[in-house]
Amino acid sequence: MASDVVAIINQKGGVGKTTTTVNLATALAVAGKKVLVLDLDPQGNATTGFGISKGRGLYSSYGVLLGLVKQSEVVQRTYIDGLYMIPSTIDLSAAEVELFPQKDRDSKLKQALADADYDYIFIDCPPGFGLININALNASNKIIIPLQCEFYALEGLAQLFNTIQSVRNTINKDLMVSGILLTMFDRRNSLSSIVANDVRSHFGNLVFNTVIPRNVRISEASSFGKPVILYDMRSSGAISYIELAREFLSRKSK
Ligand SMILES: Nc1ncnc2c1ncn2[C@@H]1O[C@H](COP(=O)(O)OP(=O)(O)OP(=O)(O)O)[C@@H](O)[C@H]1O
Ligand SMILES: [Mg+2]
Repeated sequence: MASDVVAIINQKGGVGKTTTTVNLATALAVAGKKVLVLDLDPQGNATTGFGISKGRGLYSSYGVLLGLVKQSEVVQRTYIDGLYMIPSTIDLSAAEVELFPQKDRDSKLKQALADADYDYIFIDCPPGFGLININALNASNKIIIPLQCEFYALEGLAQLFNTIQSVRNTINKDLMVSGILLTMFDRRNSLSSIVANDVRSHFGNLVFNTVIPRNVRISEASSFGKPVILYDMRSSGAISYIELAREFLSRKSK
C-alpha cells in the first residue's frame, strides 16, 4: 500500500479523536503532505469539522466501507491545499449490521483503500469496538490513541491493547502504535498532571512528548467548521497540534 494509514482510535467517547484527526491532518497538509481524512464515524464530526456537508447515501464513507463505490469517486477537496476528505453520513450507523453476514467483513475497508495514493490517510474512528473499528484497524498500519487527562483515562486501555494485539495476531500483523496522545491537559488541575505521570510511567516512550492542552479555541474552532490551526494559529491548541505533527513525522512506531 502506498499510503501510510493511521487510525485515530479509542473506544471511549469524547477523548479528542476527531479533534486530533482534523488538526493533525491539517498540520501535515499545511506542511506540504498529501492527506486524506476518512470520516468513519456516523456522527460525522470530522466532516463538519472541515465545514463539509455530510455525504449522501453511497457517496460517503458508508459506500466505500461496504465496497459499493470506489474511494476515488467519493473523495472531496477541502479548502485546504493537499487535504482531501471522504465524508460520513448517518447511513454508516447501519453498516455494522450490513457487514456482519459478509465473509470478508473484516477486510472491506482495506480492499477499498488499496489503490488510494496519499502520503497519509487518517481514519477518524467512532467510539466502541464494532466491525467499523475492526475494519479501521485492519486497513491501518499505524494507530494514534488519544487519551483524555482525567481520572478514568487508563480504564479501558488494557482492553484496547488486547484488541490491537488480537488484530495483529489474526488479520494485520503490520499494525503498529505510533503513540498515545495526552489530550485536554489542564495545568491548573493537579489531577491532569497525576494522570499524565501515571500514563507515562505505564507506557514510557509510547506516549508522545507533545501534550494537547485544554484550550477553548479548539472547541470554538470546531463549531465554526475549522481546524484550530486555521482558526487561531497562535492559540495553545494550534501550537500543540503543529508540534504533534512534527513529532509524528519523526517518530518510529512500536
Ligand atoms: N484540547 C481540547 N480543549 C478543549 N476542548 C477540546 C479539546 N479537545 C477536544 N475538545 C472538545 O471536546 C469534545 C470532544 O472532542 P472530540 O469530538 O475530538 O472527541 P472524540 O473522541 O472524537 O469523541 P467521539 O467519541 O464522540 O467521537 C468536542 O466538543 C471538542 O471540541
Ligand atoms: Mg469523534
